[in-house]
Amino acid sequence: MRHLLRVGVAGLGTVGLAVLALVERQAASLKARAGREIAIAAIAAKERKERGRDLSAFQWFDEPAKLAASPDIDLFVELIGGADGAALSAVEAALSSGKSAVTANKALLAKHGMRLAELAERNGVALGFEGSVAGGIPVVKTLREDLAGNAISRVYGILNGTCNYILSRMEAEHLPFGVCLAEAQKLGYAEADPSFDIGGADTAHKLSILTALAFGTRVDPEAIAVEGIKDISLADIDAATELGFRIKLLGVAERTGAGIEQRVHPTMVPRSSAIAQVMGVANAVTIDADAVKELTLIGPGAGGEATASAVVGDIVAIARGLRTPPFGVPAAALKPLARAPIQMHEGGYYIRLSVYDRPGAAAAIAARMAERSISLESIVQRRPPGEYEKPAAVPVILITHATYEKLIREALAAVVGDGFLAEPPQLIRIERG
Ligand code: HSE
Repeated sequence: MRHLLRVGVAGLGTVGLAVLALVERQAASLKARAGREIAIAAIAAKERKERGRDLSAFQWFDEPAKLAASPDIDLFVELIGGADGAALSAVEAALSSGKSAVTANKALLAKHGMRLAELAERNGVALGFEGSVAGGIPVVKTLREDLAGNAISRVYGILNGTCNYILSRMEAEHLPFGVCLAEAQKLGYAEADPSFDIGGADTAHKLSILTALAFGTRVDPEAIAVEGIKDISLADIDAATELGFRIKLLGVAERTGAGIEQRVHPTMVPRSSAIAQVMGVANAVTIDADAVKELTLIGPGAGGEATASAVVGDIVAIARGLRTPPFGVPAAALKPLARAPIQMHEGGYYIRLSVYDRPGAAAAIAARMAERSISLESIVQRRPPGEYEKPAAVPVILITHATYEKLIREALAAVVGDGFLAEPPQLIRIERG
């Protein structure tokens, strides 16, 4: 049996503490699986505060980069978070000193993944990041190892547990957005700054990693069109239910004739679809590929134990001696991403308008769509519930057949210009699977 693998963990938040607990709890089976003992030897965190457990058995470092470079560890685990700063310098220090590193930091990977992969490859070490995408779902290794024999045409899914939790709670309990977000924070799902979750940046970071793995392209988060969920109202949730949809924040990367389209946005998915059944903090990733056809992985997308599961999986792979290029092919062989602009996106749209109740309003809206050959699947105008007097504005909901984003944007700009709207239009893309 090979020698003990000494692990250093930097960052003792929800995930860091869960990694310590999991390595201790599974010590015997980790030893059997890796063919060697695995133990946490040292830890690093900003403050030496009370963390609800005894940490005296571990060597303590105040600076993550010092831990990363220490000869007292063989493998460095970064769970600090943040795209730059201490997380970046510590991972760089580990890789440069010839140690493999494991991270669950999607922001770091999205921004510096190419450089870090090159550094790992140059030093002949591994960089594991299974925990960076979709929490406990093993999608990184699925794409990198198990689907290596496939040409992938699309990868998409629910990649943020906080947003899925919020949207699920809003629908099930008819609770406002803010209440549901506070609950997600209390449960430890949200990022330190939850605007990363609700604004879509967290999903975009994860999607950029999946795109690179799926299409063999360089990680390019700047090429992603991003919209978050903060403008989704209970009116949209109710309309979705009535029309046979459910709203999910999706990240989608798709090979199109114009290049790779990458987008993150609230999406209407058919209520009967598999992805619509994924509720709460769960994540789901669907991969469309030539040999395997369609593959969907569903599991917990956030939370300490689930993410620790992915981190420990990476530790075991490295303990066994796995040293694959982090993105499946050497970083230098990854192709620049040919970006398909969102204006060329083709699909159906849900549009909710608040329309002044005046003669000709509905006809003008329909005309603006028809001018651009946008075909309407349905148009519903309804008096708001509880209103008995003639209301100033009424909700009008349109569902379009497939059209181009550019045409929809032009049509809506023209509708706004006609002066019939009491509020800016709401637009949600439809993904039919
Ligand atoms: N805040 C993230 C989420 C954590 O809600 O999915 C996992 O990356």
